[in-house]
Amino acid sequence: MTTPPKLVDPFQRAITYLRVSVTDRCDFRCVYCMSENMTFLPKKELLTLEELDRLCSAFVSQGVRKLRITGGEPLVRRGIMGFFENMSRHLDSGALKELTLTTNGSQLRKYAADLARFGVRRVNISLDTLDPAKFAAITRWGRLAQVLDGIEAALEAGLRVKINSVALKGTNDDELFDLVDWCARKDMDLTFIEVMPMGDIGNEDRLDQYWSLNDVRAELASRHSLSDSAESSGGPARYVRLKESGQKVGFITPLSHNFCESCNRVRLTCTGQLFQCLGQEGEFDLRRALREHPDDDAPIVEAIHKAIALKPKGHDFDYSRQQVSGQMTRHMSHTGG
Ligand code: GTP
Ligand code: 5AD
Ligand code: SF4
Repeated sequence: MTTPPKLVDPFQRAITYLRVSVTDRCDFRCVYCMSENMTFLPKKELLTLEELDRLCSAFVSQGVRKLRITGGEPLVRRGIMGFFENMSRHLDSGALKELTLTTNGSQLRKYAADLARFGVRRVNISLDTLDPAKFAAITRWGRLAQVLDGIEAALEAGLRVKINSVALKGTNDDELFDLVDWCARKDMDLTFIEVMPMGDIGNEDRLDQYWSLNDVRAELASRHSLSDSAESSGGPARYVRLKESGQKVGFITPLSHNFCESCNRVRLTCTGQLFQCLGQEGEFDLRRALREHPDDDAPIVEAIHKAIALKPKGHDFDYSRQQVSGQMTRHMSHTGG
């Protein structure tokens, strides 16, 4: 007999996936994600790692089965390995099915082996191009060689790797097959993401950047036989298998094909705010319950339920009228994507 889900939102969606942004800081400044001179939160605003542990554990007690650590760049937060180590107790107990992270890869040479030791089985690594000059232009501060080395370290540590590429017109639209072939050679999955209007990014224009995944898929189909796959990684991607290589390619299509009806996730920020939807402003303060009740988790659980009861139906991102609507003021780094 399966137990009924504990966290169910107003649209009857069971919430079993928590994404936790452990820092808003990052060692890169990707052009679609941040402006070059970002203001970051003062350190005193952040939840301590002990507080994050307590909140995440409360979610796990309420049926969260998948925990994804994000940022900013999660691996730049000091002491984060201790957090992974502590969270792994929920894997050991069987309460948590997956502990994972989304990273830019820059710190993986240092941490991949430890992550594997703490029960992480796969990582999603953001990489939009294999061209060093383009990589430098997209990330502003990143170095491709360092990320490629981080990816090697992850593979050497036995982690399954999924590459996340934001599809960017005029930037990586000439690299589709290079990325696909490179992932096939390394036995890595690959997921493309449509660029979303998250945060002010200075002079960049979202409509200029936007490359619909309908077009990506059509181009892919011009060279490969695609078969739709029912596989799910528990996130929003829909997958195809390429017949020739057997590899898995995913599409995250918030603009061209909305997937909100099957949403199973909420996002916790490093200051303890719960965002019920990536594409809406609504947030719920969990830090207050946490700090007011240092010895009692019941009020925290109650606050979590209150927050889930306010989850909206979905985002309002839309570029179809040749203008951007549904724009969010906050950056992706605030909620970790
Ligand atoms: P898997 O566990 O591998 O399925 O990963 P995931 O897709 O859940 O997580 P990942 O961090 O790889 O997400 C990739 C990107 O997809 C994010 O950075 C966002 O850009 C986008 N994304 C993830 N979740 C949502 C969502 O709920 N809504 C929207 N609109 N985009 C999302
Ligand atoms: N639209 C789509 N994806 C984005 N990311 C960051 N900003 C955006 C955006 N505006 C992606 C990064 C990374 C993940 C954390 O979010 O490339 O893969
Ligand atoms: Fe869920 Fe909101 Fe993302 Fe839609 S945009 S899938 S409702 S988090």
